Parts: sequence; structure tokens; C-alpha cells
Amino acid sequence: MAELTTIEKIADHTGKEVTIRGWLYAKTGKGKLQFLQVRDGTGIMQCVIFRKEVPQDLFDAALRLTQESSLIITGMIRADERAPGIPGGFEMGVTDLEVVQIVTGEYPIGPKEHGIDFLMQNRHLWIRSARQWATLRVRATIIKEIRDWLDGHGFVLMDTPILTPSACEGTTTLFETDYHGTPAYLSQSGQLYNEANIMAFGRVYCFGPTFRAEKSKTRRHIQEFWMVEPEAAFVDLWENMEIQEQFVSSIVQTVLRDRRKELELLGRDLGPLEKVAPPFPRIHYDEAVAMINKGAADGATVPPNEEPVPPMAWGEDFGSPHETYVAAQFDRPVFVHHYPTAVKAFYMAQEPGRPETCRSSDLLAPEGYGEIIGGSERSMDLAFLEAQIDRLGLPREAYEWYLDLRRYGSVPHAGFGLGVERTVMWICGLGHIRESIPYPRLLGRIYP
Ligand code: 4AD
Ligand code: MG
Repeated sequence: MAELTTIEKIADHTGKEVTIRGWLYAKTGKGKLQFLQVRDGTGIMQCVIFRKEVPQDLFDAALRLTQESSLIITGMIRADERAPGIPGGFEMGVTDLEVVQIVTGEYPIGPKEHGIDFLMQNRHLWIRSARQWATLRVRATIIKEIRDWLDGHGFVLMDTPILTPSACEGTTTLFETDYHGTPAYLSQSGQLYNEANIMAFGRVYCFGPTFRAEKSKTRRHIQEFWMVEPEAAFVDLWENMEIQEQFVSSIVQTVLRDRRKELELLGRDLGPLEKVAPPFPRIHYDEAVAMINKGAADGATVPPNEEPVPPMAWGEDFGSPHETYVAAQFDRPVFVHHYPTAVKAFYMAQEPGRPETCRSSDLLAPEGYGEIIGGSERSMDLAFLEAQIDRLGLPREAYEWYLDLRRYGSVPHAGFGLGVERTVMWICGLGHIRESIPYPRLLGRIYP
């Protein structure tokens, strides 16, 4: 019996006979020779069958294999630099083949071009395709490093609720549900709970699905996304940014180390990623507005469509061409800090002496990927928070527990939220967020 292994570990089996269990990804060949591209979940490997080296029935069985037929295949592993696949560089000289299931109908996703609606409708099959597979492997590595880095830097995992009585990030994007007769909302953020958690644990993070009923279709928004939210006591706006630049750099460098083959398969230009290391530039919102208006006056445009950069007034939030333009001025992610208080969430601390600005920062990814992190120092001022809650017409009762945090041992504190799908999009170089999560929930689509 040959040893059972996986394609990922194939280099350890050079010169030996092994068994792989998987699916036929593609097949070529003629007459005496067949080349099977076999995938097993961990990689893709070329398996070669020579008519004169195997029994006739085995050769015939291979001839009958159709795309995505499942199989158990055995053979000798040899190193060959030219062998395609992931990791590539090895191929199998087949000695045995057991067919598990022959696909009889035509597999819906063939080598021909398919429209995006068709692919989304078949997302449950599309994830088998090499690009999707590579992207989702990168995603898993990003998530692993998010956890490893935070666990290794004194942040304690705190799971925050998904069903909540109140809004964190504004009431316009709430998904409402019925909680036994009372309205409840799917969580937009675990932050408010983390502000309670840090008073017990110092540094914490929550990591889970987050819901925003975004009414517009953009390349960067989905309805259900994963967000990691670290929060720390006795940390100000500036230290918050230091934590973020260390954290983000570690995520990018880990992916470059552990998932380079996947990035290469995706055709990702690795140059810009190699540069991601602290310190990241920091610019004040005032400076960003001036930069944008100068660009607009000079007729600057931004990719992908070379759209002109529109001018903007102080006090407005950035549109996506603004973010892209600002980010394009730097070779690594850039922090924009001190946004106008009026365009940001209710809990952000005002800047002393300039209360029209708040101690917030957004991290903008290079190459047009836009905001990947939103963060801030939180207000310690009870009266200000009460006024904010009233100003926004939020129900005061639902926030009493939150206000308690300013009554009992309040301390300066800060935190941030990193969107996993935006990060996957940037690191993989994707054109649309829908490919960054296994089953995206998009406006107008909840199948499969
Ligand atoms: O800037 P946001 O709304 O910040 C918060 O939710 C804070 N409570 C975080 C905190 O300080 N603890 O969202 C944070 C990040 C964004 O930068 C973006 O990466 C992602 O979450 N995000 C989305 N990703 C995909 N689709 C959407 N609709 C998203 N909305 C936000
Ligand atoms: Mg934001």
C-alpha cells in the first residue's frame, strides 16, 4: 500500500509511491499519453499515464474521466521543474487509479468564459476553480495571522453578541430582526461591548461576522463581512496607529511568506506588498483635503477608469476617488487622521481645541483599495456622549450600560476595526469584493 498524502506535502515524497485523493481538474493528452491535472484541496498536480506502463483497463478508465470526476490516484513522485501545478515542480507517474464518481453531465464551469452572474449563481462550484481556491487560501492565512498576532500581543479574545438592542455605526444600515416581540439588530460592530470588556481585561478583540444593510452596489461593500476589532485601555490615537501598522505589516508579510504561490497564481504584483512595513505615513484630514483639491485643480485622474478627482469641501467625507488619489501619493498604506466630527461615529473623541475634528484615523490601502481600517480614540466625556446620542435621536435606554463605562473608572482608550474582505481584496489584488469571501451576501443576491 502506497502512503496516503496530500499535494501540499508532495516534495517530501520524491522518488516514492504515494496515493492522492481528489478531483480531476483538467485533462489533456493523446494516444499513448494522458496528463491529468488533479486537485486535492491542498494543491494541483500533474499525473501522467503511459499506456505501455499500466494495464489497459486503467488507461481506459483514465480516458473516461470527465472534469470534476472524483478519484483516488497512486503513483511515483518525481521532481521536474517544468511540471505545472501548485506547489508545482513535481509530477506523478501513475500506477493505479480508482474512480470514485464519474461526472456524467457537463460540469457547469468549463474552460470557456462565463459571465459573473453565472459564476455567482454557481459559487458553490466556482470555489473549486484555481483563482477562487487561491484567494480563499490567502483569506484563511490572513485570518490565522490576525488571531496569532493579537493573541501574541496581549489581546484577549472576547466574543460579542450578534443580536443587539442598539446601533454602533449609524441607524441607516441596520438589519432589523424580531427578538421575541422586541426589535433587535444584527451587529454592525462589537466595539461598544469591547469598550466594556477592556475595563475588565485591558486589551481585547472580537472577531466575527458583521452586518450592514448597504443600499448601494459598489466594488467594496457587502452586506455581511468579517471584522476584527481590537480595543485597548490607556491607548491614545497615536499609539492606536502604531498598533495598526505593526498588525497590518505582519499580516502582509505572513501572506508573502506562506501563500506566495497563491499570490503568483493570482498574478498579484508582489512589489507593492513587499514594501508594507512600519512606519506608515500619517496625514491630517486638512492636508488630505488640500492634496485632493490640488489634484482636482491639476486635472488628476484615478484608476481603474481614469476618472477625474472631484474637488471637495472641508467637512465632507471622502468618496472613493478621493481615497484612491490620496493613497496613490504613497508607496504603503496611509493613515488619514482627524476627520470632521460630524461625518464620523458618535463615540469618537473630539480633539481638544478643535472640537469640529475628532481623534479618528482611517487606514487607506495603496493601489486603489481604499479604507481597510476605521479606528479612533473614544470619548471619555459623559456629557458629550449623552448629547451625541440625543442629537442622533438614538434611544437613550439602549445606551445606559455604555454610558456607565464613563461613570465607573473611565480611562483614555482606543481601538479599530479591520475589514477582512477589504484586506483580502487588497492583498490578492481583486477587482471586486465578491471574490474575497466564500459566499458573499450582495445587494440582490442571497443564493447559494
Ligand atoms: O469604519 P467602520 O464602520 O468602523 C467600525 O465599525 C468601528 N466600530 C471599528 C472599531 O473602531 N472597532 O468599519 C471598519 C472596517 C472598514 O474600514 C472596512 O474595512 C470594513 O470594516 N467595512 C466593510 N467591509 C465590507 N463591506 C462593508 N459594507 C463594510 N463596512 C465596513
Ligand atoms: Mg469607516
